[in-house]
Amino acid sequence: MGTKLQIAIDGPASAGKSTVAKKVAHLLDYIYCDTGAMYRAVTWAALQKNVSLDDDVALKELLSGLKITFKPTATEQKVFVNGQDVTEAIRLPLISQNVSTVAAQVSVREALTKQQQNLALNGGIVMDGRDIGTTVLPAAEVKIFLVASVKERALRRYREDQAKGIRITLADLEKEIALRDKKDSNRLISPLVQAEDAVKLDTTSLTIEQVVTKIMEIIKKSK
Ligand code: CDP
Ligand code: CDP
Repeated sequence: MGTKLQIAIDGPASAGKSTVAKKVAHLLDYIYCDTGAMYRAVTWAALQKNVSLDDDVALKELLSGLKITFKPTATEQKVFVNGQDVTEAIRLPLISQNVSTVAAQVSVREALTKQQQNLALNGGIVMDGRDIGTTVLPAAEVKIFLVASVKERALRRYREDQAKGIRITLADLEKEIALRDKKDSNRLISPLVQAEDAVKLDTTSLTIEQVVTKIMEIIKKSK
């Protein structure tokens, strides 16, 4: 069995983090935690309840009544807010366009970081996000920073949205992704930045399987 590691996978939007993190977790029989889904779930709840997205006090109150849970199925990881299935709703463009504002608020980051750290207490976890290697799990044994060109990332998201029947143009997606990267990288608290001890992987011309293989090699070397 060996030691149960903490594996942090960070990077900008649509770099392939959740796809490869899920596969690595499956190969190792580890828990998978999609922290982006948690920020998306809070954004969804704030929009539902008409809470102002940059009102830290109101968001804190909203958070005190929110329970975000995950349920893995054979094909995906379902996300629930107070028992309601929000898996599809949190991926809609409206959420993508607003999530960075919510994710920049202190109360939101504090509450979600604590929940994420509790999930990782016993190791055996692959967690993906923006600040996992720097803030949430600074002692993680393996840290990966996934990148890819904005064009490639927009194209990946475009194909995914087309398959789901979400109507959005490639040009709009490219703009949204670039703006979100900018906001995430420039916020004051836990910005998107590569941890000093993270291994950077450019996935622009790599397949999902190639990225998974590279990460599994890094994990083997770290043991
Ligand atoms: O899947 P995609 O790359 O589009 O984004 P995501 O991982 O679902 O994250 C959505 C948003 O949540 C990001 O753009 C960040 O604003 C925020 N986020 C964050 O601030 N910190 C994290 N650890 C994860 C996500
Ligand atoms: O979690 P993140 O936003 O970083 O990205 P993702 O949701 O895992 O990946 C976005 C899309 O890119 C998915 O449809 C993946 O299947 C695809 N992808 C790809 O085509 N090639 C890769 N090397 C990685 C992901």
